[in-house]
Amino acid sequence: MPCKTLDGKALAQRTRDGIAKQVAELKTRGVTPGLAVILVGNDPASEIYVRNKGIACEKAGMRSETVRLPAEISQERLHEEIERLNADPEIDGILLQLPIPGHLDERQALDRIDPRKDVDGFHLVNAGKLLAGEKTVVPCTPKGIMRLIGEAGVPLVGKEAVVIGRSNIVGKPIALLLMQAGCTVTICHSKTVNLAGHTRRADILVAAVGKAGFVTPDMVKPGAVVIDVGINRVEGKVCGDVDPAVSAVAGYLTPVPGGVGPMTIAMLLENTVEAAEKRA
Ligand code: GUN
Repeated sequence: MPCKTLDGKALAQRTRDGIAKQVAELKTRGVTPGLAVILVGNDPASEIYVRNKGIACEKAGMRSETVRLPAEISQERLHEEIERLNADPEIDGILLQLPIPGHLDERQALDRIDPRKDVDGFHLVNAGKLLAGEKTVVPCTPKGIMRLIGEAGVPLVGKEAVVIGRSNIVGKPIALLLMQAGCTVTICHSKTVNLAGHTRRADILVAAVGKAGFVTPDMVKPGAVVIDVGINRVEGKVCGDVDPAVSAVAGYLTPVPGGVGPMTIAMLLENTVEAAEKRA
């Protein structure tokens, strides 16, 4: 059976078209959804992500504010900026672009964001609600992955899911969402013994490793749904964590670029509009 491409670019565009309509409707009620993105320092990859988030906001008719802060900023000054945005009635969503410089305490900064404006779902209160299965804001990348899998129409109940990577941004929340959807979930990481023994059992395989071409065809069960979260730059080219040759084995595969990445941005807009709906 030939491998199907899970076209994140196309699904993200359809989602963004729907969001633009919601934004237009909110505007008639006097509310323009607003997103503030805080960028500390000038990491080149983060610069690109932040710029793309701002452009996507504006295309959807939303307000966007990029707060650029120097790499040497103190924890106190960073908290002051967050408090200013918490108090700004025109701002519905606040995103602190990660990673932040090493001298700063990421946990403390994320927990300064008003949980109602936490469009990343990284505040401890929101992360705790997700763990407890309560209704809450779902982190953008895992939310986008679930949307893409849903689009493929693949049944999840009773399936084996294997996640490679245990980050707070992707690995842990996607494992929770897949478990809540009825999968039996294994989380693999850098200390896992016999990784391929786990991945070969996976009906759903999510790679969030940060190493180009890490998942090779011999690690994949025939017909599996393979989700590539990687954005790696190799000799100026963007590649995922999954070797493209995996398409000879997998049933579904997300391309890089054009798979999970565009969905992350679409879900960020969606989370911001949901916060604005609550304000309206
Ligand atoms: N850095 C990489 N991915 C993300 C994300 O989803 N949110 C934030 N805030 N920073 C990131």
